[in-house]
Amino acid sequence: RFLLASGFHAPVCGEAEAFRNRLIELDGDGRIMATWEDGTADHARLVAEAEQSGRLTRLPEGQFLLPGFVDLHIHAPQYPQLGTALDQPLDVWLKTYTFPLEARYRDEAFAARAYAMLVEDLIANGTTTALYFGTIHPGANRLLADICLEKGQRALIGKVAMDHKDLCPDDYRDASVDAALKGTQDLIDYITHHPDNGEGRVKPVITPRFIPACTDDLLHELGAMAADTCCHIQTHASEGDWEHNHVLDRHGMSDTESLDRFGLLREHTVLAHGNFISLDDMEKIALRKAAVAHCPLSNAYFADAIFPLAQALEKGVRVGLGTDISAGPSASLANSLRSALWSGRLLESGTDPALAAGERSARAGQRVDVPTAFHVATAGGARALGLPVGTFEPGKIFDAILVDPEAAGAPIRLWPELYSGDDEILEKLIYGVTRANISRVWIGGELCSGAAL
Ligand code: GUN
Ligand code: FE
Repeated sequence: RFLLASGFHAPVCGEAEAFRNRLIELDGDGRIMATWEDGTADHARLVAEAEQSGRLTRLPEGQFLLPGFVDLHIHAPQYPQLGTALDQPLDVWLKTYTFPLEARYRDEAFAARAYAMLVEDLIANGTTTALYFGTIHPGANRLLADICLEKGQRALIGKVAMDHKDLCPDDYRDASVDAALKGTQDLIDYITHHPDNGEGRVKPVITPRFIPACTDDLLHELGAMAADTCCHIQTHASEGDWEHNHVLDRHGMSDTESLDRFGLLREHTVLAHGNFISLDDMEKIALRKAAVAHCPLSNAYFADAIFPLAQALEKGVRVGLGTDISAGPSASLANSLRSALWSGRLLESGTDPALAAGERSARAGQRVDVPTAFHVATAGGARALGLPVGTFEPGKIFDAILVDPEAAGAPIRLWPELYSGDDEILEKLIYGVTRANISRVWIGGELCSGAAL
């Protein structure tokens, strides 16, 4: 079948590409077979043929097709807490609010309710792929996988491994290294053999919560499991002062170096945050083909820091964006994208107006532009995970959103007579897009949100 669409994608970092009336051919699995630009020799003929044979879908005039967002870091169980408890330091927040909330997921009815709402909300917000931290509970983690498969979301799901008695409470901790390993392996097996997961839309992830929550034994064993299974890995790394110093004290090295020594820094490892990584760490992450999930909102609330995105990209680090629900108070990856833009500006300029411009702590060259942040939110996250999504090039799988600037109650004012350049239109869409503007969402070529065409 064929789609006729106008919109944007960003296969190359720093470059957005506009297309008008691009003809996109999809196979039965939602893979893009070929594309034709308007005005090329075959375009008109193929459009006419597809239309005659009833295989053409014209996307509505005036709406824009974008690649679906990749949320590279999100805690599924923290969704009920969204928009609360943002005022405490990370360690206090974990103990006071977050571990007790996550512990509730031993109740599968609660888990089913929360996870169904979350996955629906994320899809409606345009998140076509999510890299999830679950909880320690086998039942709740399996439910999350079931719900993603049922609603069609591309998802990578980790059973959180956390066995350290100094940090983790008695009622929310893996009872032993073996228990943590068994829970991880069980979820890998469940997802791999799930009858509805033939195409591998949901994948398992090895998920040590972060070094402070894990014993060295557990980290070592999870590294061995990663080598055996070649699963994705996710963890938190060098998020804030407290955590960074904890690892320096305990291991005498940075999170990045320590994870590497445990075999946990591999291709498709995703390190959440990374605010305090050094230039050497960046080089090591790039060398291993691992990635950083930049979570600008969460970093403002819990790390008191801005991740140097521009510098990491320059160093060749793979980077995507995360909401970090609920340390980040929004389910919309577009809010992370916009936050990456303003926070890069603050890092470049310094922030304290009481100081003269030249005296503010500032770093030259740390702003990023809209095409860069758009790339990171889509193709960048896909590359971090090694998934064939994030652009509309042939060979990619069609994960896409349709943005309607004229959505009822949420207009994005394009003013075409004043702003007709592609760069300007994309900027307006990126700064303006809300859930209400996302009229349709496709994952793997299937319509997962919005009315059929
Ligand atoms: N570090 C360890 N666990 C967490 C978490 O749940 N959220 C954040 N932001 N950082 C963490
Ligand atoms: Fe997190």
